[in-house]
Amino acid sequence: MNPEPCADAGGDAGAAGAVPALDVVGVTVAYDASPVVWDASLSLAPSRLMAIVGPNGAGKSTLIKACLGILPRIAGRVRVFGEDPRDDPSRVAYVPQRTSVDWDFPATVLDVVLMGTYGRLGWFRRPGAKQRAEVLAALEQVEMEDFADRQIGELSGGQQQRVFLARALVQDADLYLMDEPFSGVDAVTERAIVGLFKSLRDRGKAILAVHHDLATVAEYFDEVTMLSRAVVASGPVGRVFTRDVIEATYGGAIGAVRASGDDGRNEP
Ligand SMILES: Nc1ncnc2c1ncn2[C@@H]1O[C@H](COP(=O)(O)OP(=O)(O)O)[C@@H](O)[C@H]1O
Ligand SMILES: [Mg+2]
Repeated sequence: MNPEPCADAGGDAGAAGAVPALDVVGVTVAYDASPVVWDASLSLAPSRLMAIVGPNGAGKSTLIKACLGILPRIAGRVRVFGEDPRDDPSRVAYVPQRTSVDWDFPATVLDVVLMGTYGRLGWFRRPGAKQRAEVLAALEQVEMEDFADRQIGELSGGQQQRVFLARALVQDADLYLMDEPFSGVDAVTERAIVGLFKSLRDRGKAILAVHHDLATVAEYFDEVTMLSRAVVASGPVGRVFTRDVIEATYGGAIGAVRASGDDGRNEP
């Protein structure tokens, strides 16, 4: 531990004194008149993997986008390594919910992953041989190297998900925001993605991912934020992920959620 004179307010992320990778305080977001996320707070330290868990319409995607600083907030504050997230977007990699992406745009797998290098290059330089090599290495990590020249729209859901992960990898960010990274992927891909998350975490990265399978929260993640418009609880899985908290988040409907293996498309 650093004998650092630190703020005594101390979050519960386990890294007293360190600047959190992500610090969300009292964030309220509305698209129209009425807020869809109320007064949400969470703190994520570097080298930690956090799940956001909650029913459909709980505001999970909204909260993730608010962390990027791209949604207007009615109230609250978001800091990424102590800064406004818009100040240095290259530190944050975002993988959107797959169903929210238009897959008809004409781009190859290579193009899509190359886009991940733009943040570091700046807009005026074109990616060169070095960037292409990084892209191919990232595609290898997600076992998609044989698909580099394929159109993105021709791939299966799980393959598209792998491509977006490769794009996040080449971005070499410090904070990863992933919206339902396991949706539409098979069991083997899910294991591969979890392995990738853990290796990113072990290299000091912070990862926040929307997750739907209550049965694997404790195995995959260090921390969890339970969201139902408001944050029901947030912190280490061992402390937060209790039956009472799960029931409070899902309004007592957990039997149904567990049984359906909720993929985020079924309305509760
Ligand atoms: N672009 C938008 N405009 C208006 N309402 C939206 C928009 N996106 C989401 N919402 C509403 O905000 C609420 C939370 O949505 P969302 O964050 O997508 O939930 P989740 O990801 O937990 O399923 C829902 O009621 C949804 O209908
Ligand atoms: Mg969502």
